[in-house]
Amino acid sequence: MSGEVFEVPAALAASAFIDNDKYLELYKRSIEDPDGFWASMAGRLDWIKPFTRVKNASYDPHHVSIRWYEDGILNAAYNCVDRHADRTPDKVAILWEGDDPAEQRAITYRELQEEVCRFANVLKEAGVRRGDRVTIYLPMIPEAAFAMLAAARIGAVHSVVFAGFSPDSLAGRIRDAGSSLVITADEGIRGGRKVSLKANVDAALEKCPGVSKVLVVRRTGKAVAMQDGRDVYYDDAARGVASDCPVSPMGAEDPLFILYTSGSTGSPKGVLHTTGGYLVYASLTHQWVFDCHEDDIYWCTADVGWVTGHSYVLYGPLANGATTLMFEGVPSHPNPSRFWEVIDRHKVTIFYTAPTAIRSLMAHGEEAVKSTSRASLRILGTVGEPINPEAWLWYHRVVGDGRCPIVDTWWQTETGGILITPLPGATRLKPGSATRPFFGVEPAIVDALGNVLEGATEGNLVLLSSWPGQMRTVYGDHDRFVQTYFSTYKGMYFTGDGARRDEDGYYWITGRVDDVINVAGHRMGTAEVESALVAHPKVAEAAVVGYPHDIKGQGIYAYVTLMEGETPTDTLATELTQWVRKEIGPIASPDKIQFAVGLPKTRSGKIMRRILRKIAEDDFGSLGDTSTLADPSVVTDLIDHRQNRH
Ligand code: WTA
Repeated sequence: MSGEVFEVPAALAASAFIDNDKYLELYKRSIEDPDGFWASMAGRLDWIKPFTRVKNASYDPHHVSIRWYEDGILNAAYNCVDRHADRTPDKVAILWEGDDPAEQRAITYRELQEEVCRFANVLKEAGVRRGDRVTIYLPMIPEAAFAMLAAARIGAVHSVVFAGFSPDSLAGRIRDAGSSLVITADEGIRGGRKVSLKANVDAALEKCPGVSKVLVVRRTGKAVAMQDGRDVYYDDAARGVASDCPVSPMGAEDPLFILYTSGSTGSPKGVLHTTGGYLVYASLTHQWVFDCHEDDIYWCTADVGWVTGHSYVLYGPLANGATTLMFEGVPSHPNPSRFWEVIDRHKVTIFYTAPTAIRSLMAHGEEAVKSTSRASLRILGTVGEPINPEAWLWYHRVVGDGRCPIVDTWWQTETGGILITPLPGATRLKPGSATRPFFGVEPAIVDALGNVLEGATEGNLVLLSSWPGQMRTVYGDHDRFVQTYFSTYKGMYFTGDGARRDEDGYYWITGRVDDVINVAGHRMGTAEVESALVAHPKVAEAAVVGYPHDIKGQGIYAYVTLMEGETPTDTLATELTQWVRKEIGPIASPDKIQFAVGLPKTRSGKIMRRILRKIAEDDFGSLGDTSTLADPSVVTDLIDHRQNRH
């Protein structure tokens, strides 16, 4: 591990929003007087009616309730669009770069306002009302942003489903949200390959009787099946509507969006975020964590199908009136210099991506980076999974030419925004550490019993108090919200992550301690992959664990036992991999499948995942006590047939 420390560049300390003295002073204030701190921070938004109450949150498991600015009234789309359209109408709001480098669009705030209003009017014409849920299944095209902001404008709740998910996954999310309208495109394009989005929607809707309208954005122009009375092309609908549309005044605690995310158990949860607190938090963190000023060109490579795309492609930057770059493609197409070429073409100054992308580009060698200028860059960021010091140092030295601080931002879909992170003008950096808490954030490390550990230590990461961007509930299932996050440790929010704190008080996130894995920066529940596998007629049982993967961070390792009479073959392994792709989506494809005669179970029938994890890591020397297993001999078979020999 690198012990190097990187000092704050002096010029940056002088020019940044926050230097170290300001960090220490404001952090103290934010913890001692959360109401005062967050009341003043909320002044960055335009409120239709100001709030009189700031924080009102209880983590008591008997009545978990989280409310911020509860009597305030505002509109998120107004804050992200209209107020900038008035002040800086000609500033570029969204810089779009297509999958094909020849395709570019620059949308000013004035144009964004018109596009959002039109989209909002189309939604209204289609019968969407305040509080209705609208499912969005779109590629990374500007219409995805228009659609999200249009929903927010009229008080509808968007539920964006990543366009890489299968029809089945989409159907589950549409039904859970109770959407009657779905927005999609004819096709998507990624890395030169077409993705048949409309066909996926058609397949999903066979299981969603509640959907009565589908809006289809033309992306490739391919003729797709259109169902009479249900399906309408967006451009046809948009021709007939006005280009202005009033904003709906929304309560600060009215829902803004639902976003499904994987957990330890069960189907994905609908994480619910509301309007006021979420937007204050996304906007403040975006400005201070990335030190984003008026002239910056900011690029976050995340897809809007994930929370990073919500908070740091769309809501945070637009609430701040920034220029946000939206990229449809992938890092390696048409060549592995693509990211750096985009940076040079648009003079990107702030760049935010995932460790998995950095590691995969590292594998292409330095020349693909060094052949580009990147002189415009001033700040780099990462998110989604722990970054190993080697990748951090490469990002710093090769991509940033040793000049640009890296903000390693730790947060979750549930947290709405960044919670533990360096600030570029304030924080000395240690490669691999997310460093210190953001303002108002009170992390702690606890042992298995929930005792708060002091000083340099290691354990499970919890948060002791609420911050404005926190999720409010699991959509339609408040009990699950309480159970998942507030029942493990009384009075604390449990993150599901493990962490170490060093002698400087810096946090080092060590990864999930539950049955969630982070595969190439995408969050996946092992239970979801297991239930996809056991749905295959030849599979009897399946157990899925993560294992260390050089590029993806974690890979998916599946142990499978077959039905009586079935033979394990390579062909069947490939068939099962394809099956999971089809059931959930390509991001869930197992990297390794091991056929097993049996799974290690306790006498009461519980699968001992600890053993499976060790074997998948090729580290079976220390399996611990296996004498409690119902059939200890299965372990020998598992070790003999492991798929991950070093
Ligand atoms: C992991 C993504 C280490 C962590 C914003 C968390 C990280 C999960 C980091 C949430 C980081 C995210 N360092 N681990 N900087 N950022 N994680 O909901 O395990 O897709 O719990 O949100 O990603 O993933 P999610």
